[in-house]
Formats: sequence, C-alpha cells, structure tokens
Amino acid sequence: MAAASQVKRDVIIAIDFGTTYSRFGYVFPNASEDHVYVFQKWGRGQGVSYSKTPTALLMTEDGKLHKFGHAAMEMYAKQAMSQKDCKKLLYFDKFKLLLHSKEDLNERTEVRARNGKKWPALDVFAKCLEYLKKISTDAVNERHLKSAKDNPNADVMYKPEQIQWVITIPAIWRISAKEFMRKAAYKAGIASPEDPDQLILALEPEAASYYCRKLPFDMFKGQQGNEVVKETLDQEKVPYMVVDNGGGTLDITVHEINAVDGHILEKHCPTGGLFGGIHVDGEFEKLMSNAFGEDFIRNFKEKFPNDWQIIMNRFEIHKRAEEDVDNDEISINLPLNFIKSCYHDIGEDDDAINTKIKRFYPENVSLSSDYLNITMEMLGELHRPIVTRITEHIKSLLSKETLQDVKTMFLVGGFSEAQFLRKEISRCFPDKRILIPHDPELAIIHGAVEFAQDPSLLRARIMGKTYGVRVCVTFDPKKHPEEKRFVHSLTNIMCTVVTFFIR
Ligand SMILES: Nc1ncnc2c1ncn2[C@@H]1O[C@H](COP(=O)(O)OP(=O)(O)OP(=O)(O)O)[C@@H](O)[C@H]1O
Ligand SMILES: [Mg+2]
Repeated sequence: MAAASQVKRDVIIAIDFGTTYSRFGYVFPNASEDHVYVFQKWGRGQGVSYSKTPTALLMTEDGKLHKFGHAAMEMYAKQAMSQKDCKKLLYFDKFKLLLHSKEDLNERTEVRARNGKKWPALDVFAKCLEYLKKISTDAVNERHLKSAKDNPNADVMYKPEQIQWVITIPAIWRISAKEFMRKAAYKAGIASPEDPDQLILALEPEAASYYCRKLPFDMFKGQQGNEVVKETLDQEKVPYMVVDNGGGTLDITVHEINAVDGHILEKHCPTGGLFGGIHVDGEFEKLMSNAFGEDFIRNFKEKFPNDWQIIMNRFEIHKRAEEDVDNDEISINLPLNFIKSCYHDIGEDDDAINTKIKRFYPENVSLSSDYLNITMEMLGELHRPIVTRITEHIKSLLSKETLQDVKTMFLVGGFSEAQFLRKEISRCFPDKRILIPHDPELAIIHGAVEFAQDPSLLRARIMGKTYGVRVCVTFDPKKHPEEKRFVHSLTNIMCTVVTFFIR
C-alpha cells in the first residue's frame, strides 16, 4: 500500500485524518536539518492553539464547506444560532468509522449528517481533505518564505508537484476502505491517478513504530535514561508491539528489528477493531439517559441538538481529569436549556431532580445548581467496558505462540492518555515494558513523515488475508492430476482448474 515514491520531492506533508481529531506535520527532506514540524495553531480563531483539530465538518444545505474543525463545532454548538439554521446545516463528525464498518463501500455510499440528511461520503471526506490540504500547504509556504529570506534564489511558493503527500490510515482497514481514502484524496486534489506515487497511505501503528524506536527512553512517560530504544530492541532481538489507541479504532501491529541489517519486519498481521475512546462518550450518554430518563434525553437532543453538543464537548474536557489531584469528582456545567427542561419535565428544584438521579446512581452522580457531578470512581466505570475489551484483545494476541517473547509495548494514539486505560494495561501486563511517549497522540504524525522519508526500512509484512484466483489452464499431464482433466465446452481443449494464492 505504501509504495516508495519515485520522485524526490521538496516537502513531505503528512495528514493524520482521525475519527475524532486530525493533524498534519511536514518536513523539508532536502534541508540541512530535517526537523519534523507539527502544525500547532489549530483553533486560533477560537482563542486556543492546539496541535489537533476536531474532524468535524459543517456544510451548507447545498453542500458547500461552511466551517471545519473547532469553528464547525463552535458554530454548530452556538446557542446564538437559531434552531432553524442548526437543523438546515449539515454537521458531520466521527464519520471515519464508516470506512471500517461498511463492507460494500463504494462511491455511492452515503453518510448521515446530525440532522438526519444523507450526503455522499466521498464528498464529505474530500471536503475535509481539501481543507486540510489548503491549511497545510499555506503553513508549509509560510515557513518556506521565512527561510527564503536567507536564500533569495529559492522559489517563493512550492508547486503542487514538489509536495509528497502522506495520509495515515488504520492498518486494520480492508482494501476497499484504503482505496476509498485514496479516491477521496484525489477528489480533494491531493495527488492524482496519473501520479499515484505522490500520495503514500501510511499505516498508523507502523508510522508510530518508526517514531517510537528512534526515541531515547526519557522521552517516554515515567522512563529515564538517554539510550535510544532501538538499541535496546536490537540487543533483545525479540518482537515488540505497537498499540494505537485512537478515538475510533484500536490498531495493533507487532514488529521486530532484523539484527543483521536493521530493517523492520512485521511479525503478525495488524489486528484490532472499533475499540476507541469514543466508547467512553457512549457510556456517558447512557449515564445521562439513566440519570434523567431516556425519553427526556432523547427529546432534549432533538429539541436542542446544539446544547447537547455543548454537554458532550464539556465531557470531552472533563473526562481527562487526572485521579488523585485534589479531586473526588468532575463537574460538568450544564447549559441553561438543559436545566430549564429538567425543571419543566422532572422536578421543580435540585432536590426533586436528585431524587430521580439517585434511583439509578445513589452515590456517584448528583446535580448541584447547574453542575452535574460525577465521582472519579464513576468516571472509571465509564471507561471500564472499552478498557476491558482492549486488554482482552491484547491478551489474546499475546497468547499466540509466535508472540510469546514480546517484551515491549508502545502505547500511542490519544486514548493512550487515558489514565484508566494506562493503569489497566500496566496491571494486566506486569512483565512487559510499557512505553508511552510524552505526547502519544503525535506519535503517528511524526512517524508518518519519517515513514515517507524511508519507506523501505520496513521490509516484510504479514498479510491479514490470502486471496485465491481460480483459472482454467490447458491440461498438462506432467503437472496436473488425471482426475482433474476435462474438456472445455467452448474451446474443446483439454483443461484443468488451478487456484493461485495471492498474499
Ligand atoms: N486523558 C484522556 N482520557 C480519556 N480519553 C482521552 C484522553 N485523551 C484523549 N482521549 C480520547 O482519545 C481519543 C482521541 O485520540 P486520537 O486523537 O488518537 O484519535 P483519532 O486519531 O481521532 O482516532 P482514530 O485513530 O481511531 O481514527 C478521543 O476519543 C479522546 O476523547
Ligand atoms: Mg488516530
């Protein structure tokens, strides 16, 4: 999938198009210092500055891009926006999941906006990629212009053909999903069928593997020492596991470094599933239905979709609260419309509402003024189902005979930040060296850029599937068994059927 590019380009731009968040990074491979830049200015229009943007798209009724990322989320959630407009605009988020779950994916496949309206998925992906393409090329040109001040002969702007594009994709995706992403990229003007090598599709845990092996130990949480991890892995000569815990997907690969030439060899085909961080959000939604009533929450979501989005945005921030840091609980500020609806539908004051909540959650959930309080213990419970699925998956993988001597596990992806996941993995695998980079969500984007610089470092992959092709060939008595011989009805030639296996 990730073919080495034939043409040496002047800049490599990698896009990590995530289920929940997207990012991009770039490098100038011909520059004296091949520093990987990760764009850090997402959300400036909203007064913040992040290295990631929500993968959220807001389109007008007639399918024009209206806003992307923080701006799309903000506009959709703004209480000032009239309910009527909110229902007309097409808001899409978490749509990347479709590519994994839909088996008969094709150009006519549709994705549903929040207001229920369907839209061609290819167009939704292409619109997002087109936006990311614009922001990333602008950032690259801006940096180039800065350095061009010292180099008057440099071209002012990069031409499209000077850019090598990389888009990261989950390793567990089937071929149709990978092809779909490529088509969406072409539609967005990123590479073209005439020059397919201009786009590399890098597998997310593979990219992370490139990045992690080159880091010194002290670049991992809780580790010390400046020895590079690769050197230790070289000496140990055993496979290591890369676990990408994303928002939508758990994506695992197992690699080993070839002691003779230093190449990376895959030891097991990629595995995983839709076991990402968004399941915690799903558990929170269940908690809200249990606490306030299913009908109440359903009606509220329908009537105030933007206020519901605000609640989910606030939960996204508060669920990151670290345990044992002056806190017994998290407190989510509820929008006025939610409080008003509670007073109208459930009870006239906090006591009445708390009586309802306590029927389901006697200890761990409560309302005080306009705050919903959830104990840290309950927050752990919201993580538990998905954390258990992830650890069970890793356990079953490690029980395979070929993976018995895996010693090191790299945890990457944003969900690896979740303390409840990290603690459980450490508890379940006490004999493994668990290495989490300080910024696990950036491991993939850094690695994707490095991968594009040297794709041939990865020498062998284990295919998840073997394809067989049955063909009719002329019968050869020296090669083919007599009982398989037959006369072809159209050609009257002696034939036999042979199956070729393609890996
Ligand atoms: N401290 C934390 N506690 C709990 N969840 C967290 C924490 N930090 C990040 N997350 C979750 O991690 C996910 C984001 O991770 P990441 O950015 O790697 O995903 P993604 O790239 O969007 O998804 P994917 O790779 O599956 O397409 C989100 O679900 C987010 O809520
Ligand atoms: Mg990801």
